[in-house]
Amino acid sequence: MTLAEMAVAVLTTADGRQKTALSRNFAAQWRASRAAGTPIEVGTANPPLRPARPEKPELRDPRDVPHRKPGSEAGRIALLHAVAHIELNAVDLHWDIIARFSGTRLPIGFFDDWVKAADEESKHFNLMCDCLERLGSHYGALPAHAGMWRAAEDTCDDLMGRLAVVPMVLEARGLDVTPGMIKIFKQAKLPDAVAALETIYAEEVHHVAYGSKWFHFLCGRHDLDPTEVFHGLVRKYFHGNLKPPFNEEKRAEAGIPPDFYWPLAGTEHARSG
Ligand SMILES: [Fe+2]
Ligand SMILES: [Fe+2]
Repeated sequence: MTLAEMAVAVLTTADGRQKTALSRNFAAQWRASRAAGTPIEVGTANPPLRPARPEKPELRDPRDVPHRKPGSEAGRIALLHAVAHIELNAVDLHWDIIARFSGTRLPIGFFDDWVKAADEESKHFNLMCDCLERLGSHYGALPAHAGMWRAAEDTCDDLMGRLAVVPMVLEARGLDVTPGMIKIFKQAKLPDAVAALETIYAEEVHHVAYGSKWFHFLCGRHDLDPTEVFHGLVRKYFHGNLKPPFNEEKRAEAGIPPDFYWPLAGTEHARSG
């Protein structure tokens, strides 16, 4: 199988645990082939517009997903469930970028990075499922946000747009909100959930950094000004303003400078500084 075919196999597997098992297995095969100096061929493929998804969770408009008090057990389960859903989407997003842009001339390091990210997202999904199961719940027990794939569909033929919106906006947002979540589970004395979220937090920085790295690479290739192009693409594909407070330190670590995101935070914030 080529790498692009592997990506499509993951995308067309519906069950979360099966999808992530396949994803981790393919990532290990890719790594081994690279280490042996005989890399699996990248190839090309036609990924589905949307990945296969399990029957549950029921996908609802974000406004119709019930909110629960964060300090309650039900609230903590809802939070872990929402993160599990994000992680499953992320598995597909990373394999989708591989399949979707396999025909674009790119250094092999591009594929190394997204295979590694997909492997880590698979681990994150499983960690969140384990946490849910320890609390007597499971992924699929609650409704989840529909529309998480929208950014992928909108950017299915625009690699720079994909990099700008997915790793550099959506995954960067994860860096902003994860410390608050870790605090919630520390207060609830749930060390397994704390450890899982700390793993996610540490690894997500790299996914944002891969986004920034390849975005800048493509700007260089096409002789474009990165800040200007980033603003244009986020305004085109991301619906709404970016929400402060931003985790400036982790964003900097991931190669996202403040002048990338502050001007997109809305007029109100731009005016106040
Ligand atoms: Fe993740
Ligand atoms: Fe990620």
